[in-house]
Amino acid sequence: MTTGNDSKQRGFWNSRFGFILAASGSAVGLGNIWKFPYIVGENGGGAFVLIYILCTIAVGLPIMLAEFTIGRKTNLNPVGAFQTLKPNSYWVGIGYMGVLAGFFILSFYGVVGGWTLAYVFKSFTQAISNFASPQEAGQFFDSFIANTWESLFYHALFMGVCVGIVLRGVHSGIERACEILMPTLVIFLILLMFRSLTLPGAMEGVEFYLKPDFSKIGPQTILIALGQAFFSLSLGMGCMLTYGSYLPEDENLTSATVYVVIFDTMIALLVGMVIFPAVFAMGLEPAEGPSLVFSVLPAVFVGIPFGNFISIVFFILLAIAAITSGISLLEVVSAYFIDQRGWSRKKAVVITSTIIFVFGIPSALSFGVLSDAKLFGMNFFDHIDNIASNYLLPLGGMLTAIFVGWVWGTKSAEEEIEKHETIFHWGHIWGFLIRYISPVAVLLVFLAKFFP
Ligand code: PHE
Repeated sequence: MTTGNDSKQRGFWNSRFGFILAASGSAVGLGNIWKFPYIVGENGGGAFVLIYILCTIAVGLPIMLAEFTIGRKTNLNPVGAFQTLKPNSYWVGIGYMGVLAGFFILSFYGVVGGWTLAYVFKSFTQAISNFASPQEAGQFFDSFIANTWESLFYHALFMGVCVGIVLRGVHSGIERACEILMPTLVIFLILLMFRSLTLPGAMEGVEFYLKPDFSKIGPQTILIALGQAFFSLSLGMGCMLTYGSYLPEDENLTSATVYVVIFDTMIALLVGMVIFPAVFAMGLEPAEGPSLVFSVLPAVFVGIPFGNFISIVFFILLAIAAITSGISLLEVVSAYFIDQRGWSRKKAVVITSTIIFVFGIPSALSFGVLSDAKLFGMNFFDHIDNIASNYLLPLGGMLTAIFVGWVWGTKSAEEEIEKHETIFHWGHIWGFLIRYISPVAVLLVFLAKFFP
């Protein structure tokens, strides 16, 4: 559906609601449900959560609006967008970095997405909710991800599903999938939260999660919180820019931004309220790492009425949440080849997804045959995640903020935001955040990390 730079050829969202849902669909994903709880667990709980929220509001929110604005202004992919706004300059580098980040992220995201699909199937056949103990659930998970062929198979399956949707283009595929998923996911999380909070011993987990202990915070933890804010909001790599590029002009960008940020943050915080009470109630370790959610959740389902049915539905929702984010990653990489290289949508999607899958193979094997192949204490999977989430995204976000604040200019951006007589009430605050706070915050975190 999307060929060339002719905007008539590109897809457009069907409705305002559809766009907000699709952008939320990109934002809400494994970042909220799988990654957020385990890095909160690894980084000491409450204080980390506070810093995360701060990064989201002061840095994430203004940058999301900046990305939407550039996208709608240019109707292009990240590379084309920066090229159009500042022709023949190095700023186009932000676009290339974004495409590269999308490539890296999808390569390991697809692996975890595969785990969620596997759990959908396994909960049909092996009763995921019937483990005798949380330890048993953990062992089951560990032996599953160590299995070479199974991990590769589900990784491929996840990529295949994303390809199928992205091939159908912007709104017929992406928008429709998100419309049903998002509301259902919220309802489920609220139900599970009540379940978790009523387990004996749950309050200890609530305390860990909500009571800040700043002694555990250093430059490295702040960098991780910042990286997580970017990752969770799909920022710093032109993903929201690309989604904004499919927006018609009469869309109110500011309120869309606020909705997406609130929705994404609310889901992450809710997931924490499901996971940590359960972790403590069951005597598990919060710093378990990437397997945390997969070993805790099945244990939450044990002993609740219709537990198995609920676990099936929940893993389906989790898989769909992963897919709606996976497709946004694939869309960015493909949109570059479609817009800039003139490839057909089919060619772009099939070729890029195949290369991403192959590049993801060592990540898929990082918990099995390659688990001992470590460099600086991290396996391949962790390295790719670390490079993309903690370096490429914050750097991309910082450069985007500088670009909009100082190069393209907040004036031009505000003109775009105010099209169709939209009133931008907090324009001054936004201008200040995007010119000073966002870039300086990221820079300080990098400096503190490299020159402690
Ligand atoms: N935000 C997605 C999540 O939380 C991941 C993602 C990152 C998607 C970057 C697109 C771009 O799962």
